[in-house]
Amino acid sequence: MMSVFIGRFHPVFVHLPIGILLFAALLFFASKKQKFAAVSTAVAPALALGSFFSILSCITGYLLSISDAYNEGIVFKHQWLGIATAITSIVCYIAYQKKFKYAGILITLLMTLIIITGHNGGSLTHGEDYLTAPLSNSKSDKKVIANINEAVVYKDVIEPILAAKCYSCHGDSKQKGKLRLDLPNYIMQGGEEGKVLTPFQPGSSELINRLLLATSNEEHMPPKEKPQLSKDEVALLHWWIESGASFTEVVKNTKQTDAIKGVLAAFSTGDATAAEQTQLPAQKVSAISSDLLTELNKQGVAVVPIVNESNYVRANLIGVETLSANTFQLLSKISDQLLQLNASFTTIKDEHLSALSNCKQLKQLELNGTSITNKGLASLAALENLEILSITQTKATAEGISSLTAIKNLKKVFLYNTSFTSAAIAQLKQKIPGLLIDTGGYKLPILVTDTTEAKALEIKTN
Ligand code: HEC
Repeated sequence: MMSVFIGRFHPVFVHLPIGILLFAALLFFASKKQKFAAVSTAVAPALALGSFFSILSCITGYLLSISDAYNEGIVFKHQWLGIATAITSIVCYIAYQKKFKYAGILITLLMTLIIITGHNGGSLTHGEDYLTAPLSNSKSDKKVIANINEAVVYKDVIEPILAAKCYSCHGDSKQKGKLRLDLPNYIMQGGEEGKVLTPFQPGSSELINRLLLATSNEEHMPPKEKPQLSKDEVALLHWWIESGASFTEVVKNTKQTDAIKGVLAAFSTGDATAAEQTQLPAQKVSAISSDLLTELNKQGVAVVPIVNESNYVRANLIGVETLSANTFQLLSKISDQLLQLNASFTTIKDEHLSALSNCKQLKQLELNGTSITNKGLASLAALENLEILSITQTKATAEGISSLTAIKNLKKVFLYNTSFTSAAIAQLKQKIPGLLIDTGGYKLPILVTDTTEAKALEIKTN
């Protein structure tokens, strides 16, 4: 255990020889100039001290490498680079003492080695692209999945969770418990104690069980001092394994509980092109005050900018335990900035919708899988800027949407899994010309009340 403890100091410790040896090199080259000749007396002690600390760094580094699961390839290289640096520093010291003619070349070599070894060590602790990551303009923002139904469960939903919460210890650079979670074959291979995942059986999958252990338990993952998974993330991993832990399956082909549907909806903007379609209003708005944001967050309302550096926002109510009038009062305080609202799979009710009529800027509203009815829809008529409305899996009918004819900007309505009949849709299209109706490609039920013409239509709407 003592060796583990000492090893942990390696990352702190290595800065000493780096600093001292580079300083020694500086003194050496400076002393060549007449003006600084006096500093030459400091070169030998600096080289000696630097050599001493580089040997200590090798020792602490070795102890760290055996106590922690680092990428063996990089460790191997780093270890030998480190040893080469230490030896070179001793050679430099001796060469300098013996007034060897080419000491300057050796010292240049030493500087090069220090830089390479240091960079290589940084890759071990911070990941290989640590240095270049800020340069490559990869977006670190949480990905918005435009059309969650078409998303690949593993690639789009699961992998980002593992990457954010597990790769630091179970990835390319480190494999704690001999487990890697960054590629399908490694995930299936398991770790030290064998398989960590049994498809269709989340209950007997170590990968899930570890997440569910009390944080105080030593085996809990991720270890308690690290960022933890949210309840939703655990639920998603559970759902993925329960659905067979496929690496290629798309969301729409999986079984989803209501809870999972809700979580998935949070990823979605509700429409493949919604993000592009939402044009920001030309006029500028002020930012929402941080007090108000805190208050909203406290209620579980997630507020995110629609595009970076804009004050216009999208709000998501999925995290709100029980929606109350209070929530909508808060929302009306951000009515100037609120362009999109996702209330899908929440407990939102008709009466809440009338409270929304203040949010005049609202362009997109998602109410999928809620208990709203035509009555609630009627109160949306005041939302003159509304362009996209998503009411799949609700009790709304064509009548409800007809009450929205007053909204001239309404462009698209998502309706699948509602009780709409093909006849009703045909009617609706007549009433609101130009309205795009997305039925998700699902076949709509044909009721006896439908006319024969409507049956013939058999909806190819998409
Ligand atoms: C801070 C480092 C760290 C993070 C982050 C981390 N783990 Fe671990 N994990 C460990 C260590 C250390 C072990 C080995 C000790 C043990 O078995 O508890 C381990 C072991 C495991 C094992 C058992 C492997 C075996 O066969 O013994 C599983 C499963 C696991 N982790 C899953 C996860 C998952 C899933 C995540 C992300 C949600 C995660 N870990 C994040 C450090 C971490």
